[in-house]
Amino acid sequence: MSASFNGRTALVTGAGRGIGRAVAVALSDAGANLVLLARSKDQLASTADEVSARGHSAVAVVADLSDATQLKQIGRDVLEASGGIDILVNNAATVAPLGATTEIATEDFLSTLILNVVAVTALTKALVPPMLERGWGRVVNVSSGLAVRPTSMPGGNTYVTSKAALEAHTANLAAEVAGSGVTVNIYRPGTVDTTMQSWIREQDPQRIGEELHRQFVAAHERGSLISPERSAAALLQHLAGRETGQVWTVDSAPAAEAVRPK
Ligand SMILES: NC(=O)c1ccc[n+]([C@@H]2O[C@H](COP(=O)([O-])OP(=O)(O)OC[C@H]3O[C@@H](n4cnc5c(N)ncnc54)[C@H](OP(=O)(O)O)[C@@H]3O)[C@@H](O)[C@H]2O)c1
Repeated sequence: MSASFNGRTALVTGAGRGIGRAVAVALSDAGANLVLLARSKDQLASTADEVSARGHSAVAVVADLSDATQLKQIGRDVLEASGGIDILVNNAATVAPLGATTEIATEDFLSTLILNVVAVTALTKALVPPMLERGWGRVVNVSSGLAVRPTSMPGGNTYVTSKAALEAHTANLAAEVAGSGVTVNIYRPGTVDTTMQSWIREQDPQRIGEELHRQFVAAHERGSLISPERSAAALLQHLAGRETGQVWTVDSAPAAEAVRPK
């Protein structure tokens, strides 16, 4: 199965760094043009330079997906910047707030649910109808294994709640559009060496919980974190196929040698 997305246009949210950046670059290696979305203009510019160096176009949309009042306009801005999206990678998310559930401010819980879940539904609403009309589209929602192992992250109630909701949304949407040519899947990227991980290690153990902090420090010290590029490559291998309604993981990807990115 060869991953070729020649002539396709992809939106990757959270494309300024980490997994999103690596996915954007991998998609451009596979022939896609990119729309890159995040809040940090400089990071998007850096990803755009890397995509452009591969001979594909990259347009940056600077936007805050945790602002519910902006979501409709962000969808319009993406459409205007791109002329239409074929591949939607909902990757942007936050792991914050961390700590005892009873200490979490309701506004912080809500802000994370907006970014990690509601923004995904808003981009879907804006970008999927044209995919359905064309009879081809790919939607991937980047989740976490913690969605189905919530007890593994005490102190991460907001995050695990948001990822469980994201997975329910994704499976339900896949069933809704089954047979349309638009596939909708979940991707659990593995434990990846990104800012999200280093940010957790930098937090005060007493505030976020000693056990939670210890887990993340230990994973780093064991050397068990994988690179964003490895995780992105596994996602691209899945994306080349026609599966829908699946939970993809970094370890369940088809054999790497079967993929010849262009
Ligand atoms: N790293 C891991 O071990 C791991 C494990 C399981 C799942 N995941 C999932 O993988 C995805 C990517 O994580 P990562 O580790 O690459 O995280 P990361 O390094 O923190 O990158 C997150 C990206 O999302 C963007 N973002 C954050 N808040 C945003 C907002 N309000 N509006 C728009 N964009 C926003 C960030 O850019 P700005 O800050 O500039 O906006 C950045 O580009 C997430 O869905 C995460 O839950 C990661």
